[in-house]
Amino acid sequence: MKGIVLAGGSGTRMYPLTLATTKQLLAVYDKPMVYYPMSVLMLAGIRDILVISTPDGVPALRALFGDGSHLGLNVTYATQSAPRGIAEAYLIGADHVGTDDSALILGDNVFHGARFPTLLQETQAKIDGCTLFGYPVSDPGRYGIAEIDASGELISIEEKPLRPRSDNAITGLYLYSPDVVDIVRDLKPSARGELEITDVNQVYLAQGRARLIELGRGFSWIDAGTPESLLAASQYVQVLEHRQGVRVACLEEVALRMGFIDSEACYELGLKMKSSEYGRYVMDIARSLA
Ligand code: G1P
Repeated sequence: MKGIVLAGGSGTRMYPLTLATTKQLLAVYDKPMVYYPMSVLMLAGIRDILVISTPDGVPALRALFGDGSHLGLNVTYATQSAPRGIAEAYLIGADHVGTDDSALILGDNVFHGARFPTLLQETQAKIDGCTLFGYPVSDPGRYGIAEIDASGELISIEEKPLRPRSDNAITGLYLYSPDVVDIVRDLKPSARGELEITDVNQVYLAQGRARLIELGRGFSWIDAGTPESLLAASQYVQVLEHRQGVRVACLEEVALRMGFIDSEACYELGLKMKSSEYGRYVMDIARSLA
């Protein structure tokens, strides 16, 4: 399975925070925002990852991840020259996807939950069409919204509806069969001039090939795309990390636990950052799992 992290957009909802930097590089507590979606792909076992960003974002993200080999990954980059929609990721990333299943994740989405890695690994093994993840929210008008019937079947998907039919938001993690590229090629831009991911999902829904997995209570999903949600995400991560003495989305730890790198390589990565608590945590983890 191939991975795509979409770290595009001009971040206008975050101005002036994003006047001179890429939104996905802002801090969510102790690490750059993009670490969180990156960790989700890695936890799904995905090692071949395309990072798509703006012309300014690509060099900055490349400085952060390089070719990914230090994490046992193959990270490549592509530019989205203007915000033409989430679905455009599949035009830009068509060669990267090739004939494989893929996972697309938005660069500002923070997911955290105890059984999430297992869920991801089980789910990605059986993709037919599209698999979406739903999460109950108090402000459904801000998101793609899914409606399900009494038997749990997905029956409608709407983008930012004025009158939401449910509070089930469709999160920014999408798993697709290889035909997603053909579907996006046939797509017309919406009224706001974007290739909408919701329109892609509606094609699968019409074919009876869309399913929704509800993340439900006890799970955390934060779209960190506004100053309020950015702070909420930071506070969530801070409380969890301090209380449990663990780190969320520590990519070096994930790479080690997934078997992408060995403990020696992990220790070296920590050593380079030994002046930070994060770096010392990486060294500790490497030692404890050696
Ligand atoms: C996008 C999608 C929306 C989805 C959301 C998740 O909205 O269009 O369907 O629910 O991401 O973060 P945006 O954040 O681009 O407004």
